[in-house]
Amino acid sequence: MCGIVGYAGTAPAQGNASTTGAPVGQRALEVLVEGLRRLEYRGYDSAGVAVSGEQGIGMRKKSGKLAMLLEELEANPLPAATAGIGHTRWATHGGPTDANAHPHVVAGGRLAVVHNGIIENYSQLKAQLAGRGHSFASQTDSEVAATLLGEVYEALEDAGQNSSDGGSRLATAMRQVAQQLEGAFTLVATHASEPGVVVAARRNSPLVVGLGDGENFLGSDVSGFIDYTRRAVELDQDQVVTLTADAVLITDFFGVPAEGREYQVDWDAAAAEKGGYPSFMEKEINDQPDAVAQTLLGRTDGEGVLTLDELRIDPAVLKTINRIIVLACGTSAYAGQVARYAIEHWCRIPTEVELSHEFRYRDPIVDEHTLIVSISQSGETMDTLMAVRYAREQGAKTVSICNTNGSTIPRESDAVLYTHAGPEIAVASTKAFLAQITATYLLGLYLAQLRGNLFQGQIKDILAELAKTPAKIASVLANAEQVKELATSMADTRTVLFLGRHVGYPVAMEGALKLKELAYIHAEGFAAGELKHGPIALIEEGQPVIVVVPSPRGRDSLHAKVVSNIQEVRARGAMTIVIAEEGDESVREHAEHVFYIPETSTLLAPLLTTVPLQLFALALATAKGFDVDQPRNLAKSVTVE
Ligand code: M6R
Repeated sequence: MCGIVGYAGTAPAQGNASTTGAPVGQRALEVLVEGLRRLEYRGYDSAGVAVSGEQGIGMRKKSGKLAMLLEELEANPLPAATAGIGHTRWATHGGPTDANAHPHVVAGGRLAVVHNGIIENYSQLKAQLAGRGHSFASQTDSEVAATLLGEVYEALEDAGQNSSDGGSRLATAMRQVAQQLEGAFTLVATHASEPGVVVAARRNSPLVVGLGDGENFLGSDVSGFIDYTRRAVELDQDQVVTLTADAVLITDFFGVPAEGREYQVDWDAAAAEKGGYPSFMEKEINDQPDAVAQTLLGRTDGEGVLTLDELRIDPAVLKTINRIIVLACGTSAYAGQVARYAIEHWCRIPTEVELSHEFRYRDPIVDEHTLIVSISQSGETMDTLMAVRYAREQGAKTVSICNTNGSTIPRESDAVLYTHAGPEIAVASTKAFLAQITATYLLGLYLAQLRGNLFQGQIKDILAELAKTPAKIASVLANAEQVKELATSMADTRTVLFLGRHVGYPVAMEGALKLKELAYIHAEGFAAGELKHGPIALIEEGQPVIVVVPSPRGRDSLHAKVVSNIQEVRARGAMTIVIAEEGDESVREHAEHVFYIPETSTLLAPLLTTVPLQLFALALATAKGFDVDQPRNLAKSVTVE
């Protein structure tokens, strides 16, 4: 939640004409605005920037989307500067107003601060600061931290004290303040007495450094500076970083120097553009054949044997695992639920899937024979991070399935298996979901290979079928128009029910989640077998029910059972829409609409059946005129509990 950017450079006039609306020739402002544009998916309740220059701090902020800030900047330009900070907000403390927007400028207009996270002891600190004569213009915890920073800075100034790192008094003050704060925070600040310096502190909240040539950057993630550099530096927990045009100095909260891990971002600015599609979401749905193909790439040797070198957990240890717990939230948790069917089937290891936020509060039984598989697109979801930490403390081995290099969850896990879906910008997760299923399947097959649960030939066959999936996804996408037409005609629908069984059940829940978050329609996914235990009472004349039908070639006559379910709801007036396998004519007579997917095995079907549901939600939300990339009340990355 919340996007943060920081910049320190030299000459203000390096920039070419800006595409962002930032004034031409103002490099700092241009970089900040461009960074905010890239990070807006993290929160869009307000946006603001502050620059520090010879004339002091210049600040502009506005509630609403970034476009409002750009209008404000045009009406009231900021002076040229060499350094600055920016923020795009997802509101926690205090509503989305101008006053609550960041940056918070305090200390008589000399200090500007932006914040992401939640400061848990803010009310005590606020009371203490108020007792010392400070007043507050906003309802935020962030302004409390900013005010404390201003107070500490002033005390250091009065004492004539400096710090060793670049002589920045701001860095010293930041360290002292960080020690007093509880909760999760990224704080970034700039002070009028130190123009050209930006200082940040991080605890349990994301922040990455970008290294430029005569300029350096900060971002909540690398997209905050991807237009300018692909050289990034990971920061650890509880660190303070001081940024100038020529230097990046990292210490812990007590001033002990530290080193960050530098890495090269493996995608570029073009990958984070819409590529001719009207929305990021539509682009990302269409990226899915590639996302799956890239995630499969390079994970076998010439003989078709899986070689997941990145796993870094001793194979001997993996052989002793007697239980797997998948931890994730939202769409990632549905990917975990799909994976569970495959992992248990292939590896014969009992596998549970648990929402990260529920996990650590129920005193779960975890030991060194438990393998925790966390799934997170962003790698920053606070609930999942905390659950992983907890499990690690109990002695479990942890593997992170993640799409974001350099993010916190993989860094704090024993091993990581990256999904290579490329940047996912739309708030609603699509390509990450298919890539997560693919990666967890690779993990399941690897464990089966290691533990000898499957013959090498069987693994080879499954991998060969997986390799054909990207082309099959492309063929589902080729029929997008048919789904779009139906969804558009249903723009006035008030509720949609989704049914699925076996792997189709989490797919049904994912279809319902997409519709809720994009089209703001009541939608629920049910296990088809559960229907007669209650949900069938919801069916009335015309109720749309979308049913994910298993392959007729699958086992345990699940197909016949789900077809019976379709008949049951239809007999009670439901309007049935069916996702079925090509050639399955048996569903036609029971459905108003049928969307076919290519033939595939039962376990791989979610990689195909999900796609029409994503297209359905996209088209219905578009027909209602909603912003599919930035749905209301949501943020891409949930970095607070
Ligand atoms: O970054 P993560 O995968 O950890 O995020 C988890 C959920 O917040 C995320 O999947 C969310 O449910 C999406 N908005 C769903 O489209």
